[in-house]
Amino acid sequence: MPPGLSTFAPEVDRIFAFVHGTAAIALAVVVVGLVALAARYRRRRDVAAAPPSVSRAWLALELAWVVAPVVPFALMFHWGFQAYLDQSIAPDDAYVVRVRARRWAWEFEHPNGIVEDDELHVPAGRAVRLVLSSSDVIHSFFAPELRVKRDAVPGMFTSLWFEAIERPDVPLEGDLSVPDARRIGYRTPILCAELCGASGRWGPNQGHATMAAEILVMRPEDFDAWMSTPGCLGFAPATTLEWGEQLFSQKGCSACHAREEGAQALAGPSFHGLFGREVRTTSGELVITDEPYVREAILQPGTRVVAGFDDVMPRIRMSEEQLDALLEYLRTL
Ligand code: CUA
Repeated sequence: MPPGLSTFAPEVDRIFAFVHGTAAIALAVVVVGLVALAARYRRRRDVAAAPPSVSRAWLALELAWVVAPVVPFALMFHWGFQAYLDQSIAPDDAYVVRVRARRWAWEFEHPNGIVEDDELHVPAGRAVRLVLSSSDVIHSFFAPELRVKRDAVPGMFTSLWFEAIERPDVPLEGDLSVPDARRIGYRTPILCAELCGASGRWGPNQGHATMAAEILVMRPEDFDAWMSTPGCLGFAPATTLEWGEQLFSQKGCSACHAREEGAQALAGPSFHGLFGREVRTTSGELVITDEPYVREAILQPGTRVVAGFDDVMPRIRMSEEQLDALLEYLRTL
C-alpha cells in the first residue's frame, strides 16, 4: 500500500487488511481441503466406486458452512459501510473546492475564485470537501495516498472530503526566505480512475493515462498566508507570451493539439502555423483562422469544427486576460 496521508488511511487500511486476510484464509482452507480430499478419496484399483450416499448428509456441517461465512461478510459490510458514510458526510466547516474534470485535465476552483489547473493546494489538518463535476464523460477522482476516490459524472455533482495529515518530518519545499512564497509541505498524486478515452486517433498514448494532477499540502498557516496573497498561484510569468505558453499546457491544450511542424494531428488540428489558414468546417463552410475564429473555437468549441475532426473539444473556462495571453502564444506557432 502507498503511504497513508489522510485521517482516513488507518481505517481504510485496516478494512483492506481484514478483507484480504479473510480472503486469504478462505482460499487456503478451500485449496488445502480440495487437495487433501482429492488425495484421500482418489480412485483406487482395489476399491469399487460406490454411488454417493445421500442418507449420510450431515445437517450440522451443512448449516455450519452456510452460517460461518455470514459472520465475516456481515463484518465487512458493517465496517465498510461505516467508513463509506464517514467519507461521504463532510464536517460542516470543511473548506470547499469545486473540481471540474474534462478530457484530459483537472481544474480546481477555490472559494475565493482562484482557479488552479492540475494542481490543488490544500491545508493540512483541515477538512477539505471536493465537489466534483465533469464537462464531458465520466472521470474518477482518485487520490490513492489519501485513500479517497469518487466518480466525476457529467450532469451531476458528487462530493468527497478528506483531511490531509501534517508531516512535520518532511522538509518544506519552496523559497523559505520569502515570507509569502508558497511553502509546500508535501505532494500527493491525483489520478483518473475511469477509462475516459485516448487523445489522438493515431497519436501518442495520451489522454486517460496521463490525466493526472497533484495535491500540494501546505501547513495551515502557510496556506492562509498564500491564499491571501494577490497572484498567489505562484507563477509570475515575465511576459504575456510566457504566460500563454504556460496556459497552453495547464489548460490541457497540448493533449490534443500538436505544435511541431509536420507532427501528426492528434484529436484536434495541429497548431503549427495556426493563424491565417483557410480551413473547411464540418458543415462545408470555408473559414479563415483569424482571431475571432480561434476565440470562438476555444469558448464555443462545437460551433464550427474543422472538417475531419470530431466535435470532442470541451469548453474551457478562461478569463479575457488568459485568452489574450494564449492567443499571443498561439500566434507564434
Ligand atoms: Cu479522465 Cu480517465
